[in-house]
Amino acid sequence: MSEKISSIAQTLPHLGVNDPARVGALFAEVRAAFDRDASSAGDEASWKILRDAWLGRKSGVLTLVTDNWLKPASPELKRAVGAALNELRAHVEAQIEERRKALQASTEQTAAARERLDLSLPGVERPIGSRHLVRQVQEEIERIFLSIGFSVVEGPEIETPYYNFEALNIPEYHPVRDDMDTFYLDVPPGAKPLLLRTHTSPMQIRTMEKQKPPVRIIVPGKVYRRDNPDATHSFMFHQVEGLAVDTDITFCEFKGTMEYFIREFFGPSVKTRFRPSYFPFTEPSAELDASCIFCGGRGSGCAKCKGSGWIELFGAGMVDPSVYGFVNYDAKKLSGFAFGLGPDRMAMLKYGVEDIQTFFQNDVRFLRQFP
Ligand code: PHE
Repeated sequence: MSEKISSIAQTLPHLGVNDPARVGALFAEVRAAFDRDASSAGDEASWKILRDAWLGRKSGVLTLVTDNWLKPASPELKRAVGAALNELRAHVEAQIEERRKALQASTEQTAAARERLDLSLPGVERPIGSRHLVRQVQEEIERIFLSIGFSVVEGPEIETPYYNFEALNIPEYHPVRDDMDTFYLDVPPGAKPLLLRTHTSPMQIRTMEKQKPPVRIIVPGKVYRRDNPDATHSFMFHQVEGLAVDTDITFCEFKGTMEYFIREFFGPSVKTRFRPSYFPFTEPSAELDASCIFCGGRGSGCAKCKGSGWIELFGAGMVDPSVYGFVNYDAKKLSGFAFGLGPDRMAMLKYGVEDIQTFFQNDVRFLRQFP
């Protein structure tokens, strides 16, 4: 570069320039040299060299032009040199800046091109699990009840004795509490006792406290009892509570809804049976049975139903009027039914699972059988 414009190392008188008319041509040469230089600055490193060569404070071309041409220029030439130098400086600065922008844009473009996703490449396979069988059954139960106007609510697993027992018409001395012995939490001395709920029925009370009738809800969730683990018992298992309360609900609706559910769940050929039972919060109470899905209800020789032809499914009943008293519902105007399904048990029946423990052991060989 500096070879081509060696003129800038000399002063104007040395170059024989005495006439303002010749200044223009002189600067045009310098400008042409710059343009050549600039056009070959194709990356950041050569751009920096270009910038320093032309704008460098100590020995850049423009500094030399200033020192060697402008400063010593005779008064006749000074004006013309000054003007030409300003024009050259503006050109050089503008070009260098423009070049910088162009280079930056093209590096961004190459970076973007490098990072572009190739959607035709095979992806990284991340094996995802499937829904647990109990969850699948729970969702199936929800689907059936949602389709007939129930909604799904959930409630706390840690409860007070009031919601778990008292408000469900189970006073402290009631013998039924023995069946539902549970885990009490360690609370500070003097604090109110807390327990792990033994059933989802507390949500009957919590829902009616919050909501005016009519009520049609199901409540899926975990419950706890102090049971020793075996093939049909677990200290933690699942329930789906159901509650329907309105001004015109009779035993017929109760029976029809339960039969509809059982047939939807197990298939149209299954028969249902109501047996009298007892729960403090329902009156009358019933135990629901389905005709044995393993032997088709024949019974004889069937180990699953122990020859009876029937399988016990779940407890239910018409809401005991005394329960309405706990939630300020008018027992004279309202009626309803409640039920408590066990999805674990229903899954065992529907899918032939022999041991409830397999649900909670998380052995993938078991879980994978129910994708
Ligand atoms: N909560 C009862 C139980 O766990 C089941 C049930 C629910 C019975 C609703 C009647 C009505 O045994």
